[in-house]
Amino acid sequence: MDLFADLAAPAMQHIGAQALLLRGMALDRAGALLQALAHVQAQAPFRHMHTPGGRVMSVALTNCGGQGWISDRYGYRYSSVDPGTGQPWPAMPAVLAQLACEAAAEAGFDGFSPDACLINRYVPGARLSLHQDRDERDLNAPIVSVSLGMTATFLFGGHARTDRLQRWDLSHGDVLVWGGQDRLRYHGVLPLRDHAHPVVGRQRINFTLRKAG
Ligand code: SIN
Ligand code: FE2
Repeated sequence: MDLFADLAAPAMQHIGAQALLLRGMALDRAGALLQALAHVQAQAPFRHMHTPGGRVMSVALTNCGGQGWISDRYGYRYSSVDPGTGQPWPAMPAVLAQLACEAAAEAGFDGFSPDACLINRYVPGARLSLHQDRDERDLNAPIVSVSLGMTATFLFGGHARTDRLQRWDLSHGDVLVWGGQDRLRYHGVLPLRDHAHPVVGRQRINFTLRKAG
């Protein structure tokens, strides 16, 4: 019986025509990812940004790579400079770029080379309201999302804000890719439930890798 081969293989699930959930794909690299995160946040600390509407986001963020996503009262955009330090964002760690490239290829997007990685940190109660990722110049490239720490409920909608929402739990080590005809689907994250993770503690870290420039 090939029972163990089946158990070892990451479970893949299509959650859209061009959206693939790769359960546990990042598990064997979680330690390296957390180390890379420590390095990034030492240079570019997490901070709570303001929305153009003047609210403070409950999610704290930082970035690595050539471009970083920022928000302030003038709007959402990418910047090559961390507005907090005036310095370029930390370089993209190889472990992240490599994982994103492999995950994208699994989902049928060969040659993905992200230049931007947004890192979101959720604590219990933090949430991300429904939105589309549309600040990137090249919408042909997919988005790769890597989750570590506490499990969150990801909302995956359609192309209209009012479309029905699917709910998917994203746990430590899960990787989600969406692109092509699913690239502009609305998505968000429900307020984080308070179940401490044994390794990462009372937080959830999400890396979203994109081609921004
Ligand atoms: C995002 O939409 O930028 C992040 C999604 C997530 O935290 O899973
Ligand atoms: Fe997003």
